[in-house]
Amino acid sequence: MTKILMVASEAAPFAKTGGLADVLGSLPAALAPLGVEAAVLLPRYRGIPIDAAQRAGDFPIWLAGSNYRVTLYRIQAGATFYFADCPALYDRDGYYGNAKGDFPDNAVRFAVLARAALEMMRGIFRPRILHCHDWQSGLAPVYLKTTFARDPTFIGVRTLFTIHNLGYQGIFAPDALAQVGLDRGVFHPGGIEFFGDVSFMKGGLNFSDALSTVSARYALEIQTPEYGFGLDGVLRARSSVLHGILNGVDYSQWNPATDPHIAAHYGPDDLSGKRACKLDLIRTLGLDEAAIDRPLLGVVSRLASQKGADLIVKIADALAADDLYLAVLGKGEADLEAGLVKVAAAHPGRIQVHLGYDETLAHKIEAGADIFLMPSRYEPSGLNQMYSLRYGTVPVVRSTGGLDDTIDEDTGFKFHEPSAWALLQATRAAAAAFSDRESWTARMRLGMGKDFSWQASAAAYSNLYQRLLSGRADG
Ligand code: ADP
Ligand code: GLC
Repeated sequence: MTKILMVASEAAPFAKTGGLADVLGSLPAALAPLGVEAAVLLPRYRGIPIDAAQRAGDFPIWLAGSNYRVTLYRIQAGATFYFADCPALYDRDGYYGNAKGDFPDNAVRFAVLARAALEMMRGIFRPRILHCHDWQSGLAPVYLKTTFARDPTFIGVRTLFTIHNLGYQGIFAPDALAQVGLDRGVFHPGGIEFFGDVSFMKGGLNFSDALSTVSARYALEIQTPEYGFGLDGVLRARSSVLHGILNGVDYSQWNPATDPHIAAHYGPDDLSGKRACKLDLIRTLGLDEAAIDRPLLGVVSRLASQKGADLIVKIADALAADDLYLAVLGKGEADLEAGLVKVAAAHPGRIQVHLGYDETLAHKIEAGADIFLMPSRYEPSGLNQMYSLRYGTVPVVRSTGGLDDTIDEDTGFKFHEPSAWALLQATRAAAAAFSDRESWTARMRLGMGKDFSWQASAAAYSNLYQRLLSGRADG
């Protein structure tokens, strides 16, 4: 077995705010049949139970004269998950911040995570590849190539950095450099400096042997100024080692034939259960029962400008005037939450908005809605549109990133311009198509038959690991 250590800030079912957790929760297990033993390291946030965990070791981590003592716990859950327990850093409400904003010590919190990964490699779990995910793990390759460049423990260890979302970069004021124990020698644009600040994401991009992101389209998009968040130049310079590997779906969690969260089970051969799920959703959210025969639009989303929730707010009155219904589940930025609450208040019984994070309701919306809206300004991969296909809930998506790679004109509706008008046109086209029951059912069935299981994506990662180990990360 080829051993891989993945480092990330989320993994389902332990800690989740979005799709990153879904990926870390299911990719490791999908790699096992391919001869890859992938373990995952996460912070031990408040609420992650360790009663049933094994203690795997403990070590001190020194950063700028401070000692952070880390105890490592191990849990077997499809794959092996390690948790770095350091209560001073992780035992709080929230993973990244609270109502007041980001935690002020996030640079140190995630520097310690990166250092914990390297410490555990000394004897607790010795991988051949360190596979880092997003900015929270971005310093691990930096320490490996600088602080520990001459440490014989790490000779031959290769690094892969996966970008799940370039919009979040882990940018800190320059004094973070000393706090995380890095030498000024890395503080230049070819290192981790980003317009005078420290960028953890840039560390991952510049110091890893290979890079990947979560769809082929996004791998191209991030090399352009429009989608590059200021890092397109770095990504163009490293394009020969940048790979696009689409996320997969864990159909053991997202399948209307077995889903424990939904009111009735169904599949492409017998769709009758979907109507029961729609009625259940209508009653759960308090929508008018007249919605049962009209198109019911669903949204499940982090409420960030990335997701285009403001566009949904803008078209809400028009949707209501068209006699459409809307069910929204979301959590995030205050102005987007307020905008949605306002349109729901203007259209009671027709538009229902549930603010918060709710796993069961997310599944009920996938199953109970007819049409799923994802008007993302950018979308590295996106999972909800793939879940929607499996649930026979026809996606309306903006043609960007993974949305464009996974949805076609036969299975969904696409628009390109990131405007309320374009979203409304596409939603209207979907609603008009809904009234032709026969062709609509054919469209649902086509989507339900699409296979986005992890198999192909896990094989692509396994292939990339092998090439990294043979010294050929490009091509
Ligand atoms: P992103 O990672 O950008 O948020 P994805 O489409 O890749 O987008 O994944 C989102 C994941 O998070 C899905 O599993 C979705 O069901 C879940 N999710 C998002 N918002 C919520 C919420 N408010 N409550 C429950 N689940 C949510
Ligand atoms: C990010 C992206 C999303 C992707 C997820 C998992 O949060 O926004 O598109 O599916 O990561 O890779």
